[in-house]
Amino acid sequence: MNYTNFDRVAEVYDRTRAVPMETITILTREINNKLRTTFGSPPYQILSLGIGSGRVETYLSSPNNHLFGIDISELMLKELKKKNMVENISILQADACNLPFRGKFHLTIAVHVIHLIQYQEVFLNEIIRTSQMVIFGDVFTDAYQSKLYSYFLDILSTFGWIKKESKSISNYIETTMINQGFEVEEFSETINDFQTHASIFESLQKRYFSWLWDVPEPIYQQAMKLLEQKIRDEDINLNESYGTTSSVNLQIFKQLDD
Ligand SMILES: C[S@@+](CC[C@H](N)C(=O)[O-])C[C@H]1O[C@@H](n2cnc3c(N)ncnc32)[C@H](O)[C@@H]1O
Repeated sequence: MNYTNFDRVAEVYDRTRAVPMETITILTREINNKLRTTFGSPPYQILSLGIGSGRVETYLSSPNNHLFGIDISELMLKELKKKNMVENISILQADACNLPFRGKFHLTIAVHVIHLIQYQEVFLNEIIRTSQMVIFGDVFTDAYQSKLYSYFLDILSTFGWIKKESKSISNYIETTMINQGFEVEEFSETINDFQTHASIFESLQKRYFSWLWDVPEPIYQQAMKLLEQKIRDEDINLNESYGTTSSVNLQIFKQLDD
């Protein structure tokens, strides 16, 4: 297990990964449609792996959708429990690679989680054992459209540090799931959004982005100094907003009939 410790960002997680309500509505509408067309009338049992603070998954729970949320981070779950929409959610601290369930859920969902799992094979075996339909996805406001974010990645690359992308993980997952008798469908929808330079700067400066936790300290410190210099040289007003987008990207796997 390659558990990246989200305890360190639990208190700021929702604020620093915020997406517009419209994006969350796109996610819940798509998932509820899939549940209805696949299984007919509710109720449905949904398992969220790596539910964290429930930033987006909380909105999937309803009297029709019983949501089980598991996460390995005690402090992320503590944030989830503070919310006032949790009465239909069963919350459990557990590892997604060792699920404490026997039966099958209608749906298992993992939002922004698979890149954190080291033993993908064990993870997928657990999901296949416990799910009829599986959704992997991301719900995010695009940081790459921030010039500060791009500058920082460029600066890091001059030190020989390149941010890893997770495309190869999703190719592996797709092939494995198809071999295990699932069909795959992609869903993607994007809306316009905006952000302030200050919010990106704060996440870089306080290392709120989880990928920054892998950057060696001396490289990170030097890169941050160069970024601050660039902000001064270009006279960037951190309080200004810039246009970006917010997206829901899903890979939906449905078990084919035997
Ligand atoms: C990037 S956060 C995403 C949280 C939430 N799904 C969202 O989209 O807002 C990843 C979450 O996965 C959890 N996580 C990482 N590895 C895990 C594992 N092996 N089992 C359960 N949860 C895990 C982390 O603790 C963290 O809360």
